[in-house]
Amino acid sequence: MPGPIGVFDSGYGGLTILRDLVNSLPQHNFIYLGDNARTPYGTRSFDVVLEYTLEAVTRLFEMGCHLIILACNTASAKALRTIQQKHLPVIDPDRRVLGVIRPSVEMVGDITHTKHVGVFGTTGTIQSESYPIEIHKLHPDISVTGEACPMWVPLVENGEADSPGAEYFVKQHINALMEKDAEVDTIILGCTHYPLLIRKIKSFLPSHIEIVSQGPVVAASLKDYLGRHPEMDEKISKSGHVEFFTTENPDKFNGLANLFYNEPIRARHITL
Ligand code: DGL
Repeated sequence: MPGPIGVFDSGYGGLTILRDLVNSLPQHNFIYLGDNARTPYGTRSFDVVLEYTLEAVTRLFEMGCHLIILACNTASAKALRTIQQKHLPVIDPDRRVLGVIRPSVEMVGDITHTKHVGVFGTTGTIQSESYPIEIHKLHPDISVTGEACPMWVPLVENGEADSPGAEYFVKQHINALMEKDAEVDTIILGCTHYPLLIRKIKSFLPSHIEIVSQGPVVAASLKDYLGRHPEMDEKISKSGHVEFFTTENPDKFNGLANLFYNEPIRARHITL
């Protein structure tokens, strides 16, 4: 039976990705699942992120999804490969789980002239080395410099994205990245929350540096994937329906979700 595309994130951030997915595939049905009760994932260990992500993926499969996007960079970095290689063949080899890192790195080869790329992400994403590993698979000649920005997610979630406090922390990490590699000419925003800091980031980055923001990239990649895999596209229900679930209190979720989705949301509670 056809089912919606599952979109999973540790909390709110994946809504920035979902926004672009829905805009690009308006007829496809989606279920968003935010694990707000256990967010953030960015500071958690490999094993914990894998355990939580696997629980969410299993739940989304039970809800009828054949295809799941891990919209969370930390989950994509720490859990995706193990789930794809170890768990999916056992759960159901015909279902698919895709992440946000691969689509983001596929395009950097066409953008960078200096062959020096920077990545901003959570501590977990940067420590996992997933971005350099994935970039080097496609472009071994590109040098990749990561910078963990642990304050950026809490700044966004506390409504401080446009405050002088945000300015301080945005400047701090941009300077740190540029000190590590002054030749960087392309930067990937490798975290769901960072598009909400884009004004501040742009104001402190040298103007020749290109920023790769994930929403449009992941949306284009999913559309392309479904075009190349009609057998999967046939398994997606299509009535333009989007449902939202959170492991936290839905009223709390609905309040802040607006910031990330630009549209009122009525989420329901779910346990994993
Ligand atoms: N969604 C996470 C990511 O993209 C950021 C929030 C968290 O740390 O859970 O890495």
